Amino acid sequence: MSLFRRWTFPLPEPVRSSGLPAREVAWKVLLAVAAGAYADAALERELNRQSLSGPDRALATELAYGAIRQRRLLDAWLDAHGRVRAEQQPPRLRWLLHVGLYQLLFTARIPASAAVSTTVDLAKQGGLARLAPVANGLLRSVLRRREQASAGDGSALVPAPPWLGLPLNEDPVVSFGLRHSLPEWLAADLLRWLPADRAEAFARACNSSPPLDLRVNRRRSDRQSLAAAFAAVAIRSQALAETPDGLTLLDRPGDLRGLPGFGEGHWSVQDRSAQRIVPLLDPRPGQKVLDACAAPGGKSTQIAEWMDDQGEIWAVDRSEARLRRVALNAERLGLTSIQQLSADATALASLRPDWIGSFDRILVDAPCSGLGTLSRHADARWRMQAETIESLVQLQRQLLEGVLPLLAPGGRLVYATCTVHPSENTETVAWFQQQRPELSLVQQQQWWPAQELDGSCAGDGFFVAVLERQQPGA
Ligand SMILES: C[S@@+](CC[C@H](N)C(=O)[O-])C[C@H]1O[C@@H](n2cnc3c(N)ncnc32)[C@H](O)[C@@H]1O
Repeated sequence: MSLFRRWTFPLPEPVRSSGLPAREVAWKVLLAVAAGAYADAALERELNRQSLSGPDRALATELAYGAIRQRRLLDAWLDAHGRVRAEQQPPRLRWLLHVGLYQLLFTARIPASAAVSTTVDLAKQGGLARLAPVANGLLRSVLRRREQASAGDGSALVPAPPWLGLPLNEDPVVSFGLRHSLPEWLAADLLRWLPADRAEAFARACNSSPPLDLRVNRRRSDRQSLAAAFAAVAIRSQALAETPDGLTLLDRPGDLRGLPGFGEGHWSVQDRSAQRIVPLLDPRPGQKVLDACAAPGGKSTQIAEWMDDQGEIWAVDRSEARLRRVALNAERLGLTSIQQLSADATALASLRPDWIGSFDRILVDAPCSGLGTLSRHADARWRMQAETIESLVQLQRQLLEGVLPLLAPGGRLVYATCTVHPSENTETVAWFQQQRPELSLVQQQQWWPAQELDGSCAGDGFFVAVLERQQPGA
């Protein structure tokens, strides 16, 4: 039996237009991102402009983020079936077709007829009436190609991959990058860093939905009580094995701030991998701790919770605006031990000479390429360039060099990133140790984003290195 039986021709008439506003939101988000906006900001703006129902908001989010992630693969379909290549299409048409194609290739629950008809409807309503037949013809042509390819493919029981029917280049890097919609440089790097099966798993995780993880404020609640409070409003949650305070939500609430305990500061949103950094910093009540790249404060507030809000915590960040969010988060969570300083952490030793040799713990949660969080940031893979990584490495080295004089003898320095790039991680740490032989490396770990059996992403990719400055005479 053909997998594509639901895509029979001719498509039913009249055109179905339910769900049109959600698709329009997705289209506008794609246009905004192509013009340079960040995907999450563009989506929030568009959602605020429309009053969509809960399911329509979810649909708009899925279509917008999904189509942005799959840009390269969707362009390849346009290249194969359009009169002109994707990049030469009128941009409004190109991004509208991405919304339509994404539905055809990735959303089994949306009938092909609805994907095609809503795309045609949007073209007519959105100033592309002249091009509506082009959109219609192209989407139908892709459907026909998929039908043919599926008929020739004996293995009909598994869902057909979204590239079925697309001519694939024989070069393994090009083919891998295209199938998983990754930029060429990243595809090449991944296949150098990892065996093919792990590179495939990484790519699948990048293209799946991230989990919604929370960190319970251990000073105000615990996982059991919070899970019970969520259950009372029909939100299922589950304790995370890898962190002592982590809960993951199995249901998606509309507005998180409406969930029990938010206003009372019982919990924060924080990915499970991010939650594993502060335990390795091991802050103790009464200590003096520097969080050198602190905003928006996920880890500063976790440090304060772990120290039972007793001690001196300095949250430093170059961005004053982002630093304000640290203060807001600390206030909501009922934490008073965090002080803020807006400053370039590479220059702290000269800005605050009184701090030299005084910190028991220093965390450098460095600005990085974010390659471990691609599922969370749909557009990040298209922003990052291989060359940008080199300048990030320079900054990361300067940050480590800049904060080291502030570490007390016997103190602990933790370097963390949310990337998987070895230049930013193990190679930076190796370089730092070479410069500073007085440091001992207690441990370093690379966590890769992994995929759960249900296809969702199980946590961000993170790197962490724990370094200690030896006591004099030790
Ligand atoms: C990965 S984010 C930190 C996330 C934060 N630790 C948390 O858990 O919420 C990196 C931060 O480094 C800051 N940053 C970048 N360069 C910096 C510098 N030279 N000095 C201080 N902060 C810097 C950025 O503004 C950004 O807020």
